[in-house]
Amino acid sequence: MSHKKKIVLSVGTRPEAIKMAPVYLALKNRPETEPVLLATAQHRHMLDQVLQVFSIKPDVDLDLMSHNQTLSELSAKVLVRVQQTLHHLKPDAILVHGDTSTCLFSALAAFYEGIPIGHVEAGLRTHNFQAPWPEEMNRRLTDPISRWCFAPTARAQNNLLDEGIPADHIYITGNTAVDALLLGLNILGDRQPEIECFDHNRLINKRLILITGHRRESFGPQFEQMCLALHDIAEKFTDTLLVYPVHLNPNVQEPVRRILGNHPRILLIEPVEYLSFLYLMKQSFLIITDSGGIQEEAPALQKPVLVTRFVTERPEAMDQGLAKLVGTDHAQIVKVAEDLLNSTNAYQKMIGQTNPYGDGTAGKQIANILAGSL
Ligand code: UD1
Ligand code: UDP
Repeated sequence: MSHKKKIVLSVGTRPEAIKMAPVYLALKNRPETEPVLLATAQHRHMLDQVLQVFSIKPDVDLDLMSHNQTLSELSAKVLVRVQQTLHHLKPDAILVHGDTSTCLFSALAAFYEGIPIGHVEAGLRTHNFQAPWPEEMNRRLTDPISRWCFAPTARAQNNLLDEGIPADHIYITGNTAVDALLLGLNILGDRQPEIECFDHNRLINKRLILITGHRRESFGPQFEQMCLALHDIAEKFTDTLLVYPVHLNPNVQEPVRRILGNHPRILLIEPVEYLSFLYLMKQSFLIITDSGGIQEEAPALQKPVLVTRFVTERPEAMDQGLAKLVGTDHAQIVKVAEDLLNSTNAYQKMIGQTNPYGDGTAGKQIANILAGSL
């Protein structure tokens, strides 16, 4: 009979899979622990893309995604099905990641089953429940029911202490996003990956501006404003190519394809697998995004990032001048982008040598802590 401690890792979306992969691999490498990957498949295609890159297969796959799912419909399914799964598996602990519906409702299911919870990427806060929505609340509710809060930075630790989380529940580890990035860059090497509907020759003599966007609180007019700003930037700077892997959420697909679908210097492509995205980030001049994870990756690759949000739970890069909050206003986005495209001085100020989010050992540190305390 195995005496290894069984640790379930619950993942649902693309970023959870990317950032949990280093933890999974570190737990697998230790003699005392046996990771069990539980995919809620809150995302389907975008989750599978990531797991393939790291050669990881789910041990249990709940296959929960439905088209244009509502928050409550998905959350209810995660809660019921994860609880049933944990009841059957009887693990020694569960790990959840970040701020998604999969994170909060897997944690709650574990709480109901009496299974100790580790929260990876704990303590990030905007202190605004409406942004990111519903993620700020998801993340915040997960911490008090967690036994281990793995905080990426000292600031995240302080947020947790301020909310009364016991100091001996908090561990500063750095963000596993940096581990995943280093692993990914290593697998990628010098290769130029094949990317569907993307001709690498289009980048010759062009500055690549890489775009992503998918925040729920920006859906509607704000999203349209952002798209109009991107259209203006492409119009004004004929030496740029805007590449936008469009998130599969239908609320993103519709405005993006309607407003940006027909411009010679804007290339709309399907979400690309992680290594291809790393490659595109490396090739880029500038990144414009509302993504959480990309705010952590861009500074590690010395790329300036404009964040199309009004608040961020990742202020460390802003404090070092490596990222800027530009909101969703059309004129403001164009103005800040213009500045960087026109002024070498402004651009150079946004390139730093240190990444505030970690040193690439977070996954190993988390595995050590769990192996030591289980
Ligand atoms: C979710 C997370 C968000 C995270 C984002 C990462 C919540 C509340 N939101 O948002 O925090 O930043 O993932 O990308 O947990 N879809 C597909 N195929 C896929 C993935 C999505 O078709 O592989 C479509 C489906 O129609 C699905 C919809 O996108 O219903 C929305 O997916 P959902 O996970 O509910 O929300 P996201 O906006 O992706
Ligand atoms: N990413 C990817 N393919 C893409 C776009 C992004 O692999 O087409 C990666 C990116 O490198 C980062 C993560 O997906 O690690 C970010 O996911 P997303 O923006 O969907 O979610 P968030 O981080 O905002 O929760």
